[in-house]
Amino acid sequence: MSEDATSTKLAELAKRRGYFFQSSSVYGGVGGFYTFGPQGASLKGNLEDAWRDRFSVQEGNMEIDAPTIMPEPVFESSGHLETFDDMLVECPECGESHRADHIVEDNTEYEDAEGLPIPEVEAIVAEYELVCPSCDAGLAGQAIDDFNLMFATNIGPGDAQPGYMRPETAQGIFVEFPRLREYARNTLPFGVTQIGRAYRNEISPRRSIIRTREFTQAELEYFVDPEGPDPDLSSVEDVAVRLYPVPEQEADDGGLLETTIGDAVADGTIADPWIGYFLGIAQEWYAAVGVDVDRFRFRQHLPGERSHYASDCWDAESEIDGNWIEIAGFAHRGDYDLSKHAEGSGERFTVFQQYDDPQTVERATVDPDMSYLGPEFGGDAGAVVDALEALASTDRDAFDGDVVAIDLEDERVEIPVDKTGFSVDEETISGEHVTPHVIEPSFGVDRLLYTVLHHAYREDEVDGEERTYLALEPEVAPTFVGVFPLQGDDALEAEAHAIVADLREAGLSVTYDDSGNIGRRYRRQDEVGTPFCVTVDYESLEDDAVTVRERDSTAQARVPISDLSRTLAALRAGDRSFDDVAK
Ligand code: GAP
Repeated sequence: MSEDATSTKLAELAKRRGYFFQSSSVYGGVGGFYTFGPQGASLKGNLEDAWRDRFSVQEGNMEIDAPTIMPEPVFESSGHLETFDDMLVECPECGESHRADHIVEDNTEYEDAEGLPIPEVEAIVAEYELVCPSCDAGLAGQAIDDFNLMFATNIGPGDAQPGYMRPETAQGIFVEFPRLREYARNTLPFGVTQIGRAYRNEISPRRSIIRTREFTQAELEYFVDPEGPDPDLSSVEDVAVRLYPVPEQEADDGGLLETTIGDAVADGTIADPWIGYFLGIAQEWYAAVGVDVDRFRFRQHLPGERSHYASDCWDAESEIDGNWIEIAGFAHRGDYDLSKHAEGSGERFTVFQQYDDPQTVERATVDPDMSYLGPEFGGDAGAVVDALEALASTDRDAFDGDVVAIDLEDERVEIPVDKTGFSVDEETISGEHVTPHVIEPSFGVDRLLYTVLHHAYREDEVDGEERTYLALEPEVAPTFVGVFPLQGDDALEAEAHAIVADLREAGLSVTYDDSGNIGRRYRRQDEVGTPFCVTVDYESLEDDAVTVRERDSTAQARVPISDLSRTLAALRAGDRSFDDVAK
């Protein structure tokens, strides 16, 4: 079976079994919007819960829930208005819009056209005589434009207050930093998480739910003191990872680096220990929720590829159809966001870091003689004072001579030192204001969901019949157990309903099914990835036991009804194996 066939079959299964499908299809649908059906919504919720548990609860971070529409100044400061663009090329024949960098990447040896300047991409389109993917018309000579990906709207009537659907959940965290800092008792490091929708007006949404216009992100913004201690890596140092760093990509031999987090941080492959820490956690978490680690890697961004805010970034990538797709990014955002919002809002976006012991420092100050500066410089006297203050803090030696030279806007002037009031005094300080740096693990939930389904897709043969099943991890499977009465019989049905109620009370996700023969019911649950099925038969009425069947092996075990919920809960938690139950 080719990998392409897996995607095609998965798309059919997703629609048939209620995982996901195109939205508003009764009106023809529109590209880039999907609805998660009952199974998909449940799988997505379970993945989000698992993420919340690992990255928020277990790490001691705070979760918030911010609005999805934000006013224009937020995105002026964040840089999204200016730079959150993709390369748009319009076909001169059919008028379809396409991403020029994607056309280049799909049809030439260039792997990272997104990072190239527009004139270079235009030159490649001409050189390779690239054509419109929709109608094959030549695109050489067509202008490529920047297209801003944000959805714009107006807040309230009229257009006085423009707003935008947030293109990342992160900004909802950054703008609240002054308040969040207080909740964290002004102590670094601290982390804030958010799971929510993000919106991007993608030029050409494609590949099912992999590139959509509305999607869910699970993001952690971790605020650290740039001069603070490194993280304790002991819990992740032995985690094995497959890395694709910049030098390996530039060597272009496709070689991955098999290493451990501890070694990769120690030898500088992963420059920032905090990024190393989060890659280690993510590697283990992805495996736990069902990403096949043999089809998974971390790839470092090439310098031209990084977002406007990032100084380093590693993507988590999963292999789908023989292609690597980005499912999360781990970016070092430095102080970019907090400094920009401080500048834009006039608020303080720093944390006061108290020293262990008060420190004595020398401070150079000026106290200019205004009775001299006023008559001498008139309206420029204020600017002279500002310049003297700046000079005192940066270059004390400038005050060593008889006069001090400073540059005003259009002239250089000299002031006698005895008119500047220059002095150096000792001062005791207890701490300083620090703008934290941000480490950002940013997960795409939709792409994760797609990966988990793709990596779980299996075909085999059972009793001479072909079978399709999803080998989903019990922790995230949308339905954990299917309960069936063997036949349409009042007594069997009553017992099966009682078992359903019992299992639901125990907190398990249960479906009841009495339609069709038992083989067909098993196939249905296999296809949605239900890990266990329970069948109530006539013997059950005699021995108070039921047959439990495991999805992947199709092995069966007889379990007393009185033990059933405990046994299934232990299987779900991974405390018992099915082999153990079947003994
Ligand atoms: N705050 C950082 C940020 O937004 P990003 O790499 O642009 O970084 C993070 O997005 C994740 O969001 C990606 O790794 C991907 O999983 C998901 N994502 C981004 N654009 C998407 C789209 N158009 N459709 C589905 N998922 C998307």
